[in-house]
Amino acid sequence: MPETTHVDYSTKIPNNVGLMDDQRVLKALEQWHPGYIDWWMTMGPEGFQTSDVYLRTAVSIDPKGWAKFDYVKMPDYRWGILLAPRHDGRQVNFGAHKGEPAWQEVPGEYRAMLRRLIVVQGDTEPASVEQQRFLGKTAPSLYDMRNLFQVNVEEGRHLWAMVYLLHKYFGKDGREEADELLNRRSGDDDKPRMLGAFNEETPDWLSFFMFTFFTDRDGKMQLESLAQSGFDPLSRTCRFMLTEEAHHMFVGETGVGRAIESTCLAMKAAGIEDPNDIEAVRRLGVIDLPTMQKKANLHFSLSLDLFGSEVSTNAANYYNSGVKGRFQETRIDDDHQLTNAVYPVSKLVDGRIKMVDEPALTAINMRLRDDYVADCSKGVERWNKVIEKAGVNFRLKLPHVAFHRHIGEFQNVKASPDGEVLSDGDWSKRKDQWLPSKADGDFIQSLMAPCWERGKFASWIAPPKVGIDNKGGDFEYVKIHQA
Ligand SMILES: [Fe+2]
Ligand SMILES: [Fe+2]
Repeated sequence: MPETTHVDYSTKIPNNVGLMDDQRVLKALEQWHPGYIDWWMTMGPEGFQTSDVYLRTAVSIDPKGWAKFDYVKMPDYRWGILLAPRHDGRQVNFGAHKGEPAWQEVPGEYRAMLRRLIVVQGDTEPASVEQQRFLGKTAPSLYDMRNLFQVNVEEGRHLWAMVYLLHKYFGKDGREEADELLNRRSGDDDKPRMLGAFNEETPDWLSFFMFTFFTDRDGKMQLESLAQSGFDPLSRTCRFMLTEEAHHMFVGETGVGRAIESTCLAMKAAGIEDPNDIEAVRRLGVIDLPTMQKKANLHFSLSLDLFGSEVSTNAANYYNSGVKGRFQETRIDDDHQLTNAVYPVSKLVDGRIKMVDEPALTAINMRLRDDYVADCSKGVERWNKVIEKAGVNFRLKLPHVAFHRHIGEFQNVKASPDGEVLSDGDWSKRKDQWLPSKADGDFIQSLMAPCWERGKFASWIAPPKVGIDNKGGDFEYVKIHQA
């Protein structure tokens, strides 16, 4: 069967890449499949593998109607391989090969580079499922539980997407990498996941929402820049993944927004005017806004680290080779080769944070990070609208990019959220004002009681404005049959 927009469900692995006619890859994937299911059963959502979850499944890549909703037991989810349609005449749109036809096969000289990019992207997908695997037990509603599981199965599908590319285009070493993707474990001492933020814990639901807002958004930026790739199968894969990714960020943004709403309404009802009166606010069974700011500080700074060093020859090579572009590359008005261009990079110069012009080619990571920060800011402003509307005098804001960093220019400095460089002593004294303390974590944990009654929501989070798939407020999003 040729590549179509329709998805072939007759094979064990739903796909629109003509797997039936590609026995070599089909066999390889069928061999990989049991290991994947094994991974899902041991590292996927714990305690809910036999529950019926109202999930969307991709059944087409037509933007107008690509998904259908139904009750599915998660291990039966149809993890498929879906690529966005091929654009006839697509070209390499940047770098040294600009103007050449896009590659349908991996160019030998860029094989290692492409494999590396695919493996790193692929590694994040199962990692987040591992990080979130205990959250079902403390879900603040069936609606939220369903959203968690939706994100989880789709991250599983994203792993499939990368594994398909490895099997199809990278031969033996691709197969080995695909196996390794099932062997690493988030937070494991011996075999950790590849990137820092994906080895952190996601101990509570506020963390989950912050993670999907900030860290899935890094994922979006990476996918956006890989969607620009001259290697067409990677581009098409990432384009379809972005369709799903939008929901993950929706879950994060609205999750935090609803927590904020609940806090503000409770404060108003109790006549508490001071958002910094933490004890009084917490007694209402909601999360105080300063603690939400700390959580945002933590997740934002961990996510910034995912962009790598501000100035990077690797990033320059990726760009110059045409394998990884900039955010919305084709909409940028320049030569797309960056021969003489410069780009301002925030750096530490003589103990002070300054903007310094660097060759734009080596500042690719910085540019993507700037685009990311701008995208985050818009979401934070929408959170502030919720606070403002409730009449509470408080504003959330993103910390300075030098705050709490472990990679790049600022990894060796201590900076406040305002970007003030601090001594180690000052940092130690003040860091609990800016990052969640053990006591903050314990308090949030104390609110994490399951709320699984139809149409009910935990005290700390407001109901959503509308349900999933236009379902009403008391829809049974998950029929729990606990294993
Ligand atoms: Fe993903
Ligand atoms: Fe995601």
